[in-house]
Amino acid sequence: MSLGRSVGTSVGIDEISFYTSSYYLDLRTLAEQQQTDPEKYYVGIGQEKMGMAAPDEDIVTMAANAALPIIERIGREAIDTILFATETGIDQSKAAGVYVHRLLDLHSNCRVVELKQACYSATAALQMACALVARRPESKVLVIASDIARYDLDTPGEATQGCGAVAMLISQNPRIMTVSPDVGNYTDDVMDFWRPNYRSTALVDGKYSTKIYLRSLKKAWEHFSEVSSLNFNDFSYFCYHLPFSRMAQKAHQHLAKLNRCPLTSEQVELQIADTLKYNQLIGNSYTASIYIGLCSLLDNRDEDLAGKQIGFFSYGSGCVAEFFSGQIQAGYQSRLHTDRHQTLLSRRQEVSYDEYLSLYHYPDPQQGESLDIPKTTQGRFRLAAITHHKREYIPC
Ligand code: CAA
Repeated sequence: MSLGRSVGTSVGIDEISFYTSSYYLDLRTLAEQQQTDPEKYYVGIGQEKMGMAAPDEDIVTMAANAALPIIERIGREAIDTILFATETGIDQSKAAGVYVHRLLDLHSNCRVVELKQACYSATAALQMACALVARRPESKVLVIASDIARYDLDTPGEATQGCGAVAMLISQNPRIMTVSPDVGNYTDDVMDFWRPNYRSTALVDGKYSTKIYLRSLKKAWEHFSEVSSLNFNDFSYFCYHLPFSRMAQKAHQHLAKLNRCPLTSEQVELQIADTLKYNQLIGNSYTASIYIGLCSLLDNRDEDLAGKQIGFFSYGSGCVAEFFSGQIQAGYQSRLHTDRHQTLLSRRQEVSYDEYLSLYHYPDPQQGESLDIPKTTQGRFRLAAITHHKREYIPC
C-alpha cells in the first residue's frame, strides 16, 4: 500500500442493515416434490430455505425496509446520495432508488442513481460511495443492494432462488468497517448467466458459471496481490458472493490452494461459516448476498472482531469480479441491527409447494393491465397497485 494513499481520510461502512421477505420455501419441500434427495440441497449446495417475495414486495419495498432502521438512527437529512445496485430492476429508465427516496422521505437535494452488472454492482456502488466521501468527507452515501433471484421451474438453478436487500451507510471515520482503496479487479466477456430484457428469469450455464467464478477469483486475487501489501494470512475472515453456500466453501479452498496455504475443512469453516448463516436461510440475493454475508459474520461471530481484516470477493456473471479488504472498527457492536435481523428471520412463514407456485406465478402485468395487490407483507412498505404502467408504493 502506498504511503500517499494510506494517510487520507478513513472511509467505509458506518451502518449496515438487511431485509428479506416474510415467506420461505424449505428446500426439503422442493426436494420432495422433485423426488430428489434433500441432502443434495442441504449438503450438496449448502442451502436450507429460500426466501419468496410476497405479491406486494419487490426490490423497492425490500430496499426501503432495509434502509429504514439506518434512517431512523441517523435522520432523514443526512443522506446526499443513494446508489442503488440491482440485477432485477423494475424499470428500464427510472432508478428504483427514486421510489425509495420518497418512501424514506429523504431531502430533495439528494442524488439517486441505479447501477447494474449482475451480482457485482453493489461493490461498484460501495467503491464509488467511498470515492465520493473521500472527495467530500462530510457527505454520507446510502448504498442499497436489492434483488429477487428467479430461475425457471424444474431447472438446476431453481433451488438457488431467494431474495433480500441490504443498505449500507458510507461515511468518513466509519464505525463498523474501513474499506481499503487497494482492490483487485477482473473483467471478461463471458456468457455464464444473463437475463435479456424480455425475460423475468435468468438464463444460466450452471456448471460453467461455477468455473468462471473460480477463475475470476484467481484473477482478481492476483491483481489484488500486486496492489496491496496484505497477504492471504493477514485475513481472519472472508466474505464471498453467495449464489449458494457451497460455492463459498469451494472458493475458499481454491484461494487457499492458490496461496499454497492448504486449509483443513475446520479452518475453512472457521474463516467463512459465520458469513453463510443468513444466506442459507434466504437463498441467493444477487447484489446483496456478499453484504448480507458481512451482516451474518458481524451478528453471529462470537468474538470481538475489532482490528480484524476481512477479505471480500465480489462476483457478477458476465463477468466482473473484485477482491478488496476491510478492517473492523473498535466498538462496531453498538452499530449493528442484530436483534432486528434475527427477529425478521424467526418470524418468517413457511409456504407449501402450491403456495410457492402461486407466489412464483403472481401476475406481473407486461401490457399496462391494472392490478390491485392485497396486503400480505409484514414489512413497513408495500407495492399496493400497478395502474397505467405505474407502480404505486405506500407505507403500511
Ligand atoms: N447428498 C449430498 N450431496 C449431493 C447429493 C446428495 N444426495 N446429490 C448431489 N450432491 C452434491 C453434488 O455432488 C454436487 O457437489 P459438488 O459440486 O461438490 O460436486 C452438488 O451436490 C450439486 O450437485 P450437482 O452438481 O448435480 O447440481 P446441479 O448440476 O443440479 O446444480 C448448479 C448445481 C449448476 C450450480 C445449479 O445450482 C445452478 O445452475 N445454479 C445457478 C447458477 C449459479 O448459482 N452459479 C454460481 C456461479 S455464478 C454466480 O455466482 C452469479 C450468481 O449469483 C448466479
